Amino acid sequence: MTVKIAVLVSGRGSNLQAIIDSIEKGHINNARISVVISNKADAYALERARKYGIDAVFLDPAGHDRAGYDREILNILAEHDTDLLLLAGYFRLLGSEIIEAYRHRVLNIHPSLLPAFKGLHAQRQAFEYGVKVAGCTVHFVDEGLDSGPIILQSCVPVLPGDTEETLTARILEQEHIIYPEAVRLFVEGKLKVEGRNVIALD
Ligand code: GRF
Repeated sequence: MTVKIAVLVSGRGSNLQAIIDSIEKGHINNARISVVISNKADAYALERARKYGIDAVFLDPAGHDRAGYDREILNILAEHDTDLLLLAGYFRLLGSEIIEAYRHRVLNIHPSLLPAFKGLHAQRQAFEYGVKVAGCTVHFVDEGLDSGPIILQSCVPVLPGDTEETLTARILEQEHIIYPEAVRLFVEGKLKVEGRNVIALD
């Protein structure tokens, strides 16, 4: 059975690209991205999707309240028979309707070692706090902000001479490794959620 993946994006889409590449290279088997949805018309992620023949949809938030917007998303997900929903640089909060409909089937990547530095500009928060180790987290999405059960994390050192930009780049490299890896584990049915704990049966 092929796992059908939908991806929500708002911008550049480098994590989307990393997942596309993993599927193309056969690191993730039995999965395909069936649709990419953006809340921004000019998101480069939409172009990346089109290049691979993936349905790329700009869904304009104007004129919708949040629940209405999320219902539009749910319709698109249903049309594409979606099994797994990925947030990849999607800068909007997801409403509870989607989360309930896709419980333990929505993943997000966050550029900090959660539960530290939730929310926007996580790398800047870490840098300004003066941590010596930073990193990124792939987690299931629940109703809270960056609070769902953690699937994978990767850490990087904060080096003397780093700026927010160099640290962000070092974290991003790790994002591109652990997000596709988490997707692979999901697709292979290897993730078991027990309360807050996610067990990877690999
Ligand atoms: C990444 O840093 C991700 O962790 C965060 O938003 C950024 C998206 O980058 N949620 P991209 O659009 O995947 O290049």
